[in-house]
Amino acid sequence: MTIDAASGRAISSLDRLDSRFGDRAGEALPSTLIAFAAHLHALVRELQPSREEWRGFIALLKDIGEYSHDRRDEWMLISDLLGISALVEEMNACRPAGATPNTPRGPFFRADAPMLPLGSDICLDGKGEPLTVRGRVLDLHGKPVAGAEIITWQANAQGFYENQQPDDQPEFNLRGRFVTDEAGHFQYRTIMPSGYPVPLDGPAGELMKRAGLPSRRPAHLQFHVSADGFETITTHIFDADDPHLANDPLFAVKPELVKSFTHGEGQCELDCTFVMVRTLEEISR
Ligand SMILES: [Fe+2]
Repeated sequence: MTIDAASGRAISSLDRLDSRFGDRAGEALPSTLIAFAAHLHALVRELQPSREEWRGFIALLKDIGEYSHDRRDEWMLISDLLGISALVEEMNACRPAGATPNTPRGPFFRADAPMLPLGSDICLDGKGEPLTVRGRVLDLHGKPVAGAEIITWQANAQGFYENQQPDDQPEFNLRGRFVTDEAGHFQYRTIMPSGYPVPLDGPAGELMKRAGLPSRRPAHLQFHVSADGFETITTHIFDADDPHLANDPLFAVKPELVKSFTHGEGQCELDCTFVMVRTLEEISR
C-alpha cells in the first residue's frame, strides 16, 4: 500500500484514474467517456450501492443494449426520456429570441424522404382527417429564405410512424421533402397527426411504468429545415388542443412550437413559420 506523505492517507489505485486515462483523451478514448468514468466514480461514492444493486444496474444496461436493433434504438429512447437529448440540443443550438428552437429528432426520422412538388399530398393511404400545412421560412430579419429544404415526418391517426408499421403503411407514408419558393413559402397536404405513447414494451418503458412517469407524446408534426449559410433546424410543431402538452416525455414542448390547428368542414389547416439563424462562418464572411 502507498501512503500519501502529506495527508498520511492510503492512496487507492482508483485515485490514479486521471493519470491513467487523462492524457489519452482525444486519442484512443473519447473525452466524454473519460469524464463519464470520473463522474460515475463520484456517483458510486455518493450512492454507495451494494454489490447486488450494482449488478442489477449492469443487468439493466445489458437489457437496453439487447432491445436495440435497426428499427429500434432503446439507448436513444433512454437518452430522450431522461431529458439528455433535449439538453444536448439546447446546448448545441443556443439561438437568439425569435429564432425557431431545436428539439430532439427522435427515432423515426428518415433522411431519404422523397422530394415532392409544393402542394403534394404526403398521406399515401387516404386514412385520416385531411390537413393542409402552409409554412414560411424566414431569417431573423424577416426576409424569406428561398430554396430552403424542408423534410417533414409524422405519425398517422393511430399514432404510428410508417417505419414502425412496414406491413400496414405504404413506404414513405406521411413523409415528404419540399423546397421553399422565392418568397420562402411551402405548402403540402397531409392528415391530422395523433399523439402516441413512447415504446413501453422494453426496459425504458418498464422503468417509466414502474415510476408512474407520463409516456404519451402530444400530437405533433416534425420538421428538419436546412439552407445554405443557416443553422439546420430540427423541430416539432405541437397541436395546441392536445391535453398532454405539459407532460411530453421527451421534454420537447416549447411555447413557440405550440400552434392552433384550425378545424373547418372536412379540412384542417395549419400555418407555421420557421426562423433560421445564419451560421457563424456565414456571419463572419
Ligand atoms: Fe414524433
